[in-house]
Amino acid sequence: MSVQQTHITLLGSSPFSSNMASSVLISIHLLLMSISTVLASATSLHDSFVQCLNFNSDIPVPSSTMYTQRNSSFNSLLQSSAQNLRYLETSMPKPEFIFTPQTEAHVQSAVICSKQLGIHLRVRSGGHDYEGLSYVSGTETTFIMMDLANLRSVSVDIGDNSAWVQAGATIGEVYYRIAQKSKVHGYPAGICTSLGIGGHITGGAYGSMMRKYGLAADNVMDARIVDANGRILDRASMGEDLFWAIRGGGGASFGIILEWKIKLVPVPSVVTVFIVTKSLEDCATKILHRWQEVVDKLDEDLFIRVLIQPASKAGSSSGERTVTTSYNALFLGTADRLLKIMEESFPELGLTRKDCVETSWIKSVLYMAGYPNGTPPEVLLQGKSLFKNYFKAKSDFVRDPIPQSGLEGLWERILEENSPLMIWTPYGGMMGKISESEIAFPHRKGVIFMIQYLSIWSQGGGSDRHMGWVRKLYNYMATYVSKFPREAYVNYRDLDLGTNKNTSTSFIQASLWGARYFKDNYDRLVLVKTKVDPDNFFRHEQSIPPLPPALREARAQTLLSS
Ligand SMILES: Cc1cc2nc3c(=O)[nH]c(=O)nc-3n(C[C@H](O)[C@H](O)[C@H](O)COP(=O)(O)OP(=O)(O)OC[C@H]3O[C@@H](n4cnc5c(N)ncnc54)[C@H](O)[C@@H]3O)c2cc1C
Ligand SMILES: *[C@@H]1O[C@H](CO)[C@@H](O)[C@H](O)[C@H]1NC(C)=O
Ligand SMILES: *[C@@H]1O[C@H](CO)[C@@H](O)[C@H](O)[C@H]1NC(C)=O
Repeated sequence: MSVQQTHITLLGSSPFSSNMASSVLISIHLLLMSISTVLASATSLHDSFVQCLNFNSDIPVPSSTMYTQRNSSFNSLLQSSAQNLRYLETSMPKPEFIFTPQTEAHVQSAVICSKQLGIHLRVRSGGHDYEGLSYVSGTETTFIMMDLANLRSVSVDIGDNSAWVQAGATIGEVYYRIAQKSKVHGYPAGICTSLGIGGHITGGAYGSMMRKYGLAADNVMDARIVDANGRILDRASMGEDLFWAIRGGGGASFGIILEWKIKLVPVPSVVTVFIVTKSLEDCATKILHRWQEVVDKLDEDLFIRVLIQPASKAGSSSGERTVTTSYNALFLGTADRLLKIMEESFPELGLTRKDCVETSWIKSVLYMAGYPNGTPPEVLLQGKSLFKNYFKAKSDFVRDPIPQSGLEGLWERILEENSPLMIWTPYGGMMGKISESEIAFPHRKGVIFMIQYLSIWSQGGGSDRHMGWVRKLYNYMATYVSKFPREAYVNYRDLDLGTNKNTSTSFIQASLWGARYFKDNYDRLVLVKTKVDPDNFFRHEQSIPPLPPALREARAQTLLSS
């Protein structure tokens, strides 16, 4: 469906078309609201929710799916997949209870009941949200959490080059299940293997095959979601506007993804990986400058990202530090062919045969994710994360190489912080061939590479200092990165960019960060949101807001005539 048709539908279903009908609706609505208020105050929120679940399900919902704050397992469940320890501090708001659905019908009932009882619902798949939005609410004081960890089946159909994957599965489990059936199939999603399929793909999802095949969200064929009315919709029944929005529009604005149908891609039976590290003493600045000039033009089979961190200076006894740049690569082919390509395109790195490791695609997944040598692929089935820390991160997109003088300023700042990390991820290849409006993820045209800045710490104290450091670094980088808007990756959620205060946040206010995450796609996301969730049931600090009723008609008309 085109955007224009959307507007017409919007106008057609306008509640203003019949004043009578709308006043009747309002009274019914008020009646329901007072019933739910009575319910909620007479019994606990938890009891009302359980009653409602059982009322809305064909079979009783087992009590083992429910964890109240008094349950001794509440904390370990809350912490289980949560990645950012900043959001597990005791001072952080906690869900009233955690619901762990066992079936899709449970998810539907949870939506219906949260809506009926006026309870704010947060949904978690893999728990990697940078700002803890899947398990902490900063918008309302009372909320519940639905953890989809039990919904994690993966069914791979090699003959069809596809797989249906439930939201609670990790991307590592998906990689493992594919490799179990075929050595020459893969899927181009994230590098960290504990990411949840539910949240990850809906934000875009890049990884080490993005130059060859694009994002995970570019390789999705279908999806099944629960909408704000508790209905299950697939691609055909949700329509192309909503299917477009959930591919890159970010988590928890449009519905709950139950499962994705993903498109498998070919991988060779032998791939090659390497890590080559250059410190400032090994001409790191010059080589990194060269990397920026060549990296987006390299053979599409080759992905070389750079990890930048401080390290102690070799041979220094006084604890002096230097900056290291680690070139971490996946090549979809043999070492011989890789060496030829490097000799032609990027000889400055000085890659040798000794640096290269030939392996299978599934083992390259473990290598890129940082597992120790020899770790068996079965580790991926544990869905455990290697990375659980206090952290603050930000992102940028670069379209012109950063001059050496700019890099030198960067090194000074990196050396000021204990445990900073920068990850530079190359573009080019397929990333540049897909239009910015193809799916909701927009950052494509002319991008050479993406930057992620992180400060990481392991104790609760000193958060302000570490966060201050990242913010200062981000200010320093403003000159060198995308402008108007200064783009940001929605999967690297950053609440510094602004937040919805409560349910009534305006779409103009939200465009402050909306334009940065979604560029020109923001307007269409607002229209889709207005159509599928006009009451803003699915909301969080940075969710896409619907147009307010008074503006729906006027706004739709302006857009129609433009
Ligand atoms: C260590 C680490 C490494 C990472 N590496 C990469 C990488 O290589 N590539 C990359 O692209 N990104 C990467 N990310 C970012 C990652 O893609 C996002 O954090 C993503 O949102 C995680 O999804 P999740 O399901 O694990 O998170 P969650 O915290 O469960 O969810 C994230 C958001 O999506 C919502 N959500 C969760 N499940 C659903 C659902 N089923 N339906 C609708 N909304 C839902 C949540 O409410 C929340 O708002 C990394 C993050 C971390 C912490
Ligand atoms: C905690 O909750 C689980 C799941 O609902 C239940 O099986 C268990 O008995 C509860 N334990 C306690 C101590 O309440
Ligand atoms: C939302 O914020 C606005 C502006 O700050 C305020 O007027 C309104 O009462 C708030 N609404 C709720 C439900 O908190």
